[in-house]
Amino acid sequence: MFNLFKKKKEDSKGNQYSALKIREIVKETADTVTLYFEQPEPFLEYKAGQYITVILDINGKEERRSYSLCTSPYVDAYPGITVKMVKGGLVSNYLNDNMRPGKTIDIMKPMGNFTTTYHSKNQRHFVMVAGGSGITPIMGITKSVLVNEPQTKVTLLYCSRSEQDIIFKNQLESLVSKYEGRLTVIHNLSQPGADWKGLKGRLDASKVEGLLKGQIGEIAECYLCGPEGLMDSASSALKTLGVKEEAIHRESFFSDLTSKEEELKAAGKLSPELTREVEVIVDGESYHFEVPAGKTILDAGLDHDVDMPYSCQSGLCTACRGRLLSGQVDMIEDAGLSKTEIEEGYILCCSAKPASSDIKIIIE
Ligand SMILES: Cc1cc2nc3c(=O)[nH]c(=O)nc-3n(C[C@H](O)[C@H](O)[C@H](O)COP(=O)(O)OP(=O)(O)OC[C@H]3O[C@@H](n4cnc5c(N)ncnc54)[C@H](O)[C@@H]3O)c2cc1C
Ligand code: FES
Repeated sequence: MFNLFKKKKEDSKGNQYSALKIREIVKETADTVTLYFEQPEPFLEYKAGQYITVILDINGKEERRSYSLCTSPYVDAYPGITVKMVKGGLVSNYLNDNMRPGKTIDIMKPMGNFTTTYHSKNQRHFVMVAGGSGITPIMGITKSVLVNEPQTKVTLLYCSRSEQDIIFKNQLESLVSKYEGRLTVIHNLSQPGADWKGLKGRLDASKVEGLLKGQIGEIAECYLCGPEGLMDSASSALKTLGVKEEAIHRESFFSDLTSKEEELKAAGKLSPELTREVEVIVDGESYHFEVPAGKTILDAGLDHDVDMPYSCQSGLCTACRGRLLSGQVDMIEDAGLSKTEIEEGYILCCSAKPASSDIKIIIE
């Protein structure tokens, strides 16, 4: 198994492993902290909206999780991640409870395509829809757009449970004043206090449509990050308002692979589970190993000490992406891949199970 203390400098995708020292910890809400890191040498290069993979040793076991950078490389001197506790969650609670300034965390360098490019002459309208911790990548993109494109507007619809649960509440208020007329923030609360005068309840498609009707020009870019239901509603409303599918970008933080697999099984969409031999090419080296019935290709590879890259292990982040050179796999979750990538034969090893006997995968 990959050993934290004998790490390679780079994995097969050129993902450098590095360490970041915590500079400051900000308690955002009762269950959320932001960890700001000292700039390493050389500086951490990232695009707003990307995530890092933290690698922790918890109770003697290596744990990896993805966390979006909530900062902007154009605005913030120090990179940061914001972590919201998940009930019963190992790493989110560990990061909330056990960190202190000066402590060092191992990471894999920033990755992810939930990003944009900027041009000072652009005159666009960004529509951001965030739920809970989904505000993190959107915060970084929002700050970057506002500073880089003086003629672009941003509308952010942000769903939280209560007023006390709004992450970055003060930062958002400061941004609204700083970029008056260019940034609009609309909060929606699912469990508001009695004094709340803003939007409440579920932010469904008709509500999103009502809020944005007549406001979205032709040059709209939409970034959605939050629970699947919220992103589905927002996406359908945006399409009704005429936004093209290519302009709607989504980032998922969580996928319940067990339920998805059960659904696929019930629909007869999965092949019989058999033990299969596979070949995986990593770093130009070829490895042959057996994938026991029911296991994913990534899990079996790691069991055989093959240093395959990974992060979320739920088919969302694409750190484990490979290309199928032969054979067939069943994918439980492919949300991280674009249609084109799927057509080109890319798979996510963390959610792929062998469906034929001649499988050969290259991880480039
Ligand atoms: C690309 C990407 C970016 C991410 N960025 C952020 C970020 O900026 N901030 C942040 O707080 N998190 C972020 N996440 C989620 C994060 O990686 C972890 O999944 C999360 O912190 C839970 O990890 P855990 O170890 O605490 O929970 P685990 O121990 O892995 O899970 C405990 C239980 O909770 C369930 N569970 C896990 N996550 C969720 C969830 N979100 N909703 C409901 N049930 C869940 C699991 O299925 C399991 O039953 C991101 C994920 C991805 C893929
Ligand atoms: S490890 Fe994240 S998609 Fe496979």
